[in-house]
Amino acid sequence: MTTPILEIRNLHARIEDREILKGVNLIIPPGQVHAVMGRNGSGKSTLSYVLAGKEDYEITEGEVLLDGQDLLAMEPDERAAAGLFLAFQYPIEIPGVATMTFLKAAMNAQRKKRGEPEMLTPDFMRAVKQAGVDLNVDNDMLKRPLNVGFSGGEKKRAEVLQMALLQPKMCILDETDSGLDIDALQVVAKGVNALRSANRSMLVITHYQRLLNHIVPDVVHVFSDGRIVESGDKDLALQLEAKGYADFDNAAA
Ligand SMILES: Nc1ncnc2c1ncn2[C@@H]1O[C@H](COP(=O)(O)OP(=O)(O)O)[C@@H](O)[C@H]1O
Ligand SMILES: [Mg+2]
Repeated sequence: MTTPILEIRNLHARIEDREILKGVNLIIPPGQVHAVMGRNGSGKSTLSYVLAGKEDYEITEGEVLLDGQDLLAMEPDERAAAGLFLAFQYPIEIPGVATMTFLKAAMNAQRKKRGEPEMLTPDFMRAVKQAGVDLNVDNDMLKRPLNVGFSGGEKKRAEVLQMALLQPKMCILDETDSGLDIDALQVVAKGVNALRSANRSMLVITHYQRLLNHIVPDVVHVFSDGRIVESGDKDLALQLEAKGYADFDNAAA
């Protein structure tokens, strides 16, 4: 069997004495796109934060393997260099740092960590311009400070642009659809779909089914009260949209 890109086994995590993740199990083979759907407060963002290595969370049980490597033993920057990418529900703003400068720093930090040479400015500019054209990101946006005053759609474009440049093995997108109008949603979906490949996997976390009309997942998981309670094909998302989450709450209890 090929090594999964992401394997989560019985993951438990708590914050301030409150258990939020209660035994998450998830295996994503290379090339697959999985969706996690669940009601607000079920712990979806907590899962993405724990995978990214955000402090504040105590992991009490379980393990996570990224392409066979112990993810939880790595520092956040090592996780990124190993090929993990996270697009957060609430992207941070960095006043005073042009988006272009940020992207170059992010890219070169990862290359350095992997022992690769820095990317030279002309090569970088070419790569950014190319990726930017594909994603409708104009030069003007790249000159503005990262995320400062960006609309919801612009923030997501900047994130997908970053993802396209970094070429990660495992992409996790948390609530990428919140606050997006339909045009922006399509741009993001187009960017994500363009990055689908046989050796890259994706986890799309969402509250609504809408995004999954544009990014069609191989597997849909229902998340309830800190764990995955049901998995199925893309039709499971439609079923959830029609019936709501109530049926699945019993499965979690
Ligand atoms: N810093 C925190 N301290 C205490 N509880 C928290 C903290 N952050 C999140 N929670 C709680 O964890 C639960 C899961 O939150 P979250 O992972 O954001 O859910 P989702 O993304 O599914 O909406 C919620 O009940 C939330 O109130
Ligand atoms: Mg969330």
